Amino acid sequence: MCGIVGYIGSKDAYPILIKGLKRLEYRGYDSAGVALLNGDTAIYKKKGKVSELEDYVRGKETKCSIGIGHTRWATHGEPSDLNAHPHQSEKGLFTIIHNGIIENYSILKKTLMDQGMTFYSDTDTEVLANLIEFIYTSEDVSVEVAVSLALQKVEGAYGLVVISREDPNLMIAARRSSPLVIGLGSNEYFIASDATPIVEYTDRVIYLNNDDIALIRRDELVLKNLVSESTQVNIKTLDMGISEMEKQGYEHFMLKEIFEQPRSIMDTFRGRIMSETNEIRLGGLLDVKDQLVNAKRIVVIACGTSWHAGLVGEYLIEDLARIPVEVEYASEFRYRHPMIGPDDVVLAISQSGETADTLAAIQLAKDAGALVIGICNVAGSSISRETHAGVYTHAGIEIGVASTKAFTAQVTVLTMMAIMIGKEKGLLSEGRFSQLLKELNDVPSQIEKILEQNEEFKRIAEIIKDATNALYLGRGVSFPVALEGALKLKEISYIHAEGYPAAEMKHGPIALIDEKMPVVFIATRDGSYEKIVSNIQEVKARNGVVIAIVTEGDTTIRDMADHVIEIPESDESLVSLTAVVPLQLIAYHIALMRGCDVDQPRNLAKSVTVE
Ligand code: G6P
Repeated sequence: MCGIVGYIGSKDAYPILIKGLKRLEYRGYDSAGVALLNGDTAIYKKKGKVSELEDYVRGKETKCSIGIGHTRWATHGEPSDLNAHPHQSEKGLFTIIHNGIIENYSILKKTLMDQGMTFYSDTDTEVLANLIEFIYTSEDVSVEVAVSLALQKVEGAYGLVVISREDPNLMIAARRSSPLVIGLGSNEYFIASDATPIVEYTDRVIYLNNDDIALIRRDELVLKNLVSESTQVNIKTLDMGISEMEKQGYEHFMLKEIFEQPRSIMDTFRGRIMSETNEIRLGGLLDVKDQLVNAKRIVVIACGTSWHAGLVGEYLIEDLARIPVEVEYASEFRYRHPMIGPDDVVLAISQSGETADTLAAIQLAKDAGALVIGICNVAGSSISRETHAGVYTHAGIEIGVASTKAFTAQVTVLTMMAIMIGKEKGLLSEGRFSQLLKELNDVPSQIEKILEQNEEFKRIAEIIKDATNALYLGRGVSFPVALEGALKLKEISYIHAEGYPAAEMKHGPIALIDEKMPVVFIATRDGSYEKIVSNIQEVKARNGVVIAIVTEGDTTIRDMADHVIEIPESDESLVSLTAVVPLQLIAYHIALMRGCDVDQPRNLAKSVTVE
């Protein structure tokens, strides 16, 4: 949440910062700003997107080789020029960009105001800038010591970068709970909240750990902890290409990412499904496989779309591997005194690997003695580092704020896990096991076929686009698909949509149905097919507009639904991987038709690093 970028070296900093902010804009986009240190500090900041900042700065003096930039998702204080980062301390000695929340900011602010300090913004970040300056001037310490003393007084989360005209060749970065990565160039350093702005300059990076403080000069990087003891520098190599971060001819990242799914799913199972030896091999789980297979209970913790993937996992693991599964919102789990212990296995699912609630829930589960396994997309992310073991989804970088290919990659991993455990426990015959592997192998080509119907999805989008509400219904493993379809529509087109188990419709949502209410059914041929056919009839009897996703060749539903989308026949366990694709594309087209910002929907952010 919020994007941070910084540069110190011999190049011109401003273009690096702007380019970095554009790459980071998916993390937050309500205002943006830069601070350029060249003797004195020039600060330019603007409400709105990075392009608006760029227009504002055009023609102004930007020359400098040390600078910081920020793109914001508001927590304290509405989006405005004033509340945008960077923030400067009262006398202008310190300039700071910050992600996260300073929880004790009001106490700190009051103390500083009592000392006569003045505040101009509503942010917690300005409090931190003033706190550093207050300590620096009143205690007569170095810039470095002032920053670390201030951070010792802070409660909450931060990823921050500080520059100071008092020590103009120094950049200080510090992290607690909010991620920061430092890129190592030659006599230059890059800093960012994720690696996307760094990758085109260097593949050598350091991920800061909690309570690390990095003191960065052009020719030197020193890592310390909060009490100024040196800590170890652990350099990693990035495995990421720049082209992945570009739209590659697609109009939007979301569209590109939807169309990438045949490849991203294949990348996720490649090398893990061994058809020759009839085996599934998840390298990251080798050390914990026995514990996983013999788990008495699995608890999934996740947020948003990842939570929906977790629900699919529940159906699959209970069905194929016969282990009881509970799926929890990380934000609820962490605060409700959950029953969790050493006999439990926790699956933490997260695209970004940085979601604050999921991270906190992981910590709680670890403290209670549970084995915690991560399913993450971003290599090197906090969750991938905090979990005992894990499996990466190889979806590639996902930039569209509404998650698409990460969902299908997560479901692919969960499917492999369920099949693997089922086989290990002797619950799946050789025949059933190979059939599932074959069917999983077929999913990418099935999605290719679905993508070919894009024009048809546009036609259906046209029908829904003016609705004010929509209902998505499914049964079994298609229920989480219904939730995900409804979420996509809400997120990017701002149409109110709800996902429901189809049979539950009778217990409430049926009251909403009239000729203006589009009802999207995921009604493929499976064990509950006859039941969902009845549910469709119930909607038709009340004049609802039925759009049904059906198995290829289904004539029964074709005769009763208003609009039908056919998807290739697949094993019941795998249908979520294909059925979700039309829903993603329909939401995409509706959002476009309504003039919404598809890749950066209002109020949302890709990576939610605050509670
Ligand atoms: C945000 C994003 C969603 C995402 C959720 C969980 O709300 O907008 O797309 O599903 O966070 O994120 P995670 O990175 O943990 O999967």
